[in-house]
Amino acid sequence: MLTKYAVLAATAAAAVAAAPTKRAAAGQADIDVVILNYALTLEHLENAFYRDTLATYDAGAFRAAGYPDWVRQRFVEIGGHEKAHVDFLTKALGDQATAECKYNFGVTDVNTFIATAALLEGIGESAYLGAAQNITNPSTLTAAGSILTVESRHQGWVSSSVLQGDGFPRDTSTPLNFNQTYSLAAPLITSCPSTNPALPVKAFPAATVTGDVCGGKTVTVAGQGVQSGQYAAFLAGLSVYYAPIGDNGSVTIPQDVGYGRIYMVVSKVNNSIADDNVVAGPAVIDIPLSSTQAEEISPLNKN
Ligand SMILES: *[C@@H]1O[C@H](CO)[C@@H](O)[C@H](O)[C@H]1NC(C)=O
Ligand SMILES: *[C@@H]1O[C@H](CO)[C@@H](O)[C@H](O)[C@H]1NC(C)=O
Ligand SMILES: *[C@@H]1O[C@H](CO)[C@@H](O)[C@H](O)[C@H]1NC(C)=O
Ligand SMILES: *[C@@H]1O[C@H](CO)[C@@H](O)[C@H](O)[C@H]1NC(C)=O
Repeated sequence: MLTKYAVLAATAAAAVAAAPTKRAAAGQADIDVVILNYALTLEHLENAFYRDTLATYDAGAFRAAGYPDWVRQRFVEIGGHEKAHVDFLTKALGDQATAECKYNFGVTDVNTFIATAALLEGIGESAYLGAAQNITNPSTLTAAGSILTVESRHQGWVSSSVLQGDGFPRDTSTPLNFNQTYSLAAPLITSCPSTNPALPVKAFPAATVTGDVCGGKTVTVAGQGVQSGQYAAFLAGLSVYYAPIGDNGSVTIPQDVGYGRIYMVVSKVNNSIADDNVVAGPAVIDIPLSSTQAEEISPLNKN
């Protein structure tokens, strides 16, 4: 009997094999194969993260950090999903499948594990969303969408049940394109098998945002190539909010960005974050709900 995944994998494999749909220029790989390998690159990262890190931190470590057993059990369940995604994509790609790399997740305790899980699930959600427009085969798109909603629920669970924030801070999710996504994943990848297919991606220089990160506040944006006269672009859902970079990287975060997880890239222009315009980033920033709620609930208590 075929499992659900086997059916999906068979469908996607048939799609990949049968559809030289959008083979760009001669010599270029089928775009759907490229996208599935890009997705598999991220799934390998997530799978290795849960497998290796949860082997280090047992239920006792989670209890000591203040998390009941069911929190770790859910993370184990999430790790199982990521493994299933790896198996599914590997099967769909057959001998074109990219292999697992070596990683440095920088996890030193249960709290950094949880922060990294939140980072990776957010990247997964935004990566599948950003890649959707480039998938040519409808079956492949359905399979990718089906994984996307699960990544999104993982992300929502970590940010709400575990971190006690808002699991759905805005009415749209944030798409990230290939190079933006790779820029977030690359620092965790230390080396890959030389036999892996090359992906058409590059990492932008890292960007940082420091200070009181909240709409209306002035923060400092830094990174290689970042200078005054450029713009900080805040990606929140389907909207991008631009703010000029002043002296010493000072930027006033637009009020409209709202709260929750937001990505910031530095752009040379104030109306585009196309790769050609991007100088550095994305940086990941979290604006707590309380920072906006405080004003709404008790305007009289404002300092
Ligand atoms: C994905 O689609 C967008 C919009 O059409 C395009 O700008 C981008 O170059 C495409 N990316 C790839 C890797 O084909
Ligand atoms: C990403 O970076 C690669 C390598 O520099 C580049 O060829 C490509 O156009 C960039 N953009 C996209 C959408 O892939
Ligand atoms: C920028 O930083 C330099 C060095 O810290 C300082 O001397 C200068 O006053 C700063 N400029 C502004 C406009 O804050
Ligand atoms: C964007 O930059 C152009 C100059 O490049 C300027 O004329 C325009 O006013 C700017 N728009 C905003 C909203 O800052």
